[in-house]
Amino acid sequence: LHIAVLMGGWSAEREVSLMSGNGCADALESLGHRVTRIDMGRDVAAKLADAKPDLVFNALHGTPGEDGSVQGLLDLMGVRYTHSGLATSVIAIDKVLTKLLLVPAGIPMPGGRIVKSADLFEGDPMARPYVLKPVNEGSSVGVAIVTDSSNYGNPIARDSVGPWIDFEELLAEPYIRGRELTTAVLGNRALGVTELKPKTGWYDYESKYTDGMTEHVCPAEIPDEIADACKSLALEAHRLLGCKGASRSDFRWDDERGVDGLFLLEVNTQPGMTPLSLVPEQARHIGMSYAELVQAIVDEAIA
Ligand code: DAL
Ligand code: MG
Repeated sequence: LHIAVLMGGWSAEREVSLMSGNGCADALESLGHRVTRIDMGRDVAAKLADAKPDLVFNALHGTPGEDGSVQGLLDLMGVRYTHSGLATSVIAIDKVLTKLLLVPAGIPMPGGRIVKSADLFEGDPMARPYVLKPVNEGSSVGVAIVTDSSNYGNPIARDSVGPWIDFEELLAEPYIRGRELTTAVLGNRALGVTELKPKTGWYDYESKYTDGMTEHVCPAEIPDEIADACKSLALEAHRLLGCKGASRSDFRWDDERGVDGLFLLEVNTQPGMTPLSLVPEQARHIGMSYAELVQAIVDEAIA
């Protein structure tokens, strides 16, 4: 096949996407496909019209590659592509829309409320500890955990510029103590459960992408009941959202509360494919190489 790998773009996760995209492109070449690498700019439609690929491999993260915009363009152009389609992407990139869809269907997620970032100067939107996150970013960009010991002051002081300052609106969620778990889904299969143990602080951007900063325990050393719950919730979320290809569901587990302490945080429809990323790692654990994973994503897209 002639496959165009879309990567880069202009989201906050540009660098991550370039790593994902080049990894996937190398694998596709090793599998014998003809590959065109496209670092996405506003001229992407012209580049695609020029390249005329049989398939687009979407290795973009964040907007506009994960939010439905690129999916809509490719739908209009009649070009097939990997991973989720337009409607799924629009919902899943938005942490609030995701809750609105999944919570009524019985998926446990933390409660949350939208706050105007300017209002944070007036005081805490909920009891500490809580998490502030942009509604539609990835890789923990712009996320802050506000605890009693946070030096943001109470109320948050105007001169303590938090990472949220670039965002007009944020989602505030109660912070769930305990452990960080994640489950990849490929097609109809949940691949496994990994526990992320950052060596310092929490699993933020730096811990995610700096080699050695986070221990990945795969499979997670957790009770079977919790591992099974992660897998069935990730599969159910993938189905309810209508995801295609690979997705990855991230969880917090309050290990003092048993299965009642397990909460889905979000579903990633364009999960990272870098060397430190979790979907390739879980695939490897079940005996599937990186190249086999990439080919499986292609197979689902052309089926
Ligand atoms: N947003 C990053 C790429 C992930 O979900 O892996
Ligand atoms: Mg994410």
